[in-house]
Amino acid sequence: MEISARLLEWYKNHHRSLPWRKTRDPYKIWLSEIILQQTRVNQGLPYYLNFIETFPTVDDLARAPQEQVLKLWQGLGYYSRARNLHKAAQQVVEDGGIFPTSYKDLLTLKGVGAYTAAAIASFCYDEVVPVVDGNVYRVLSRLMGISSPINTTPGQKEFRALATMLISKKDPATYNQAIMEFGATHCTPKNPLCNSCPFQTDCVAFNMGKVDELPVKVKK
Ligand code: ADE
Repeated sequence: MEISARLLEWYKNHHRSLPWRKTRDPYKIWLSEIILQQTRVNQGLPYYLNFIETFPTVDDLARAPQEQVLKLWQGLGYYSRARNLHKAAQQVVEDGGIFPTSYKDLLTLKGVGAYTAAAIASFCYDEVVPVVDGNVYRVLSRLMGISSPINTTPGQKEFRALATMLISKKDPATYNQAIMEFGATHCTPKNPLCNSCPFQTDCVAFNMGKVDELPVKVKK
């Protein structure tokens, strides 16, 4: 079976039930992805629920005073994320209240980079564009035995090209959730679950005893 098909199969049987996986509302997906940047799911979850309840729509968020937004953000850190969130909501409302619907247009929103744009475009609109985050770097570097550093531009280009080749064209939304979930809960940074891994026989890092050495980061 292809890698993408095996990932989808793994995901079907092992994913966590999380509220943002039950919606295709781009506002909610965007909110969840901004909150989850540099934040663990368990920590981010109550913030997500609180934001959705306080601001059910992008309009509600855009019209709120900045103090209220920052207050709800308290404890998450990186306050520029909250300020950008608020500004992007205002951008959307100024443009007619409709969220951009393509990867390219999503990139024009304040605070939305390649990762977040790919997440929204695939999860909400089934655009075939890979998410490339820390989880994806780890899974791909180990599976393929790639030691190119993940914190250099050429390294990132290489991983992006590989991710673009591997993504399921039929179900990019679930594929993207699946590879991140696999990295977050199975192919973890420490003590990965190699003994029950569906890729064990193919995994270059496992076969070479190099799981703990990948991915590679260079000191800057
Ligand atoms: N971390 C970042 N995005 C996530 C998602 N969609 N599901 C789970 N964890 C995540």
